[in-house]
Amino acid sequence: MEETVTKLIEKHGKDPSALLAMMQDIQDEFNYLPRPALEHVAKELEIPMSRISGMATFFATFSLKPRGKHVCEVCMGTACYTRGAPQLVDELKRDLKVEVGETTADKQFTLETVNCVGACALGPLVKVGQKYHGHMNSSKIEKMLKQYRK
Ligand code: FES
Repeated sequence: MEETVTKLIEKHGKDPSALLAMMQDIQDEFNYLPRPALEHVAKELEIPMSRISGMATFFATFSLKPRGKHVCEVCMGTACYTRGAPQLVDELKRDLKVEVGETTADKQFTLETVNCVGACALGPLVKVGQKYHGHMNSSKIEKMLKQYRK
C-alpha cells in the first residue's frame, strides 16, 4: 500500500495544496481511505493527521470504512426521489441483505445513497462505480446486479 500511496503523492508533486486530489486518488485506488494510507500522506507532506481526518469526514464523498468492490449509490435527489428512489433503496436492501452504508458479506457491494448527481433526466438512477443506470425500477435491479456479480 505504501508504495502505491507514495506514487500518488509524487504524481501531485508532493504539494500539500493538492491534498484533496491525492485523497480522491487514494479512494479511487482502494475504494475507501485506509488509515495507514492517510498517515503516510501526513508524514510525507509534513501536515497534521488531524487536517486530513477533518477533510475525510467533512466531504461526504469520502469513506473511512472499507467498501465493497462495487459501490452502489442510489440518487436521492428530488427528481429521483419523486420517481421512486426510496423503493429502489428498499429493493437493494432486500436483494443485497444490507442496510444503507453497509457492505455485503462477500465484499462485492456497498449500498449508499447520494444527493443529485446531475443526471435528473435519467431518474430514478443508480450509480455503480462510475456507471449510471437510469430509468431504474425494481425489475431492472436484479438484472443490473447480475452484471456485477459475474
Ligand atoms: S435527482 Fe437524481 S440525478 Fe438529479
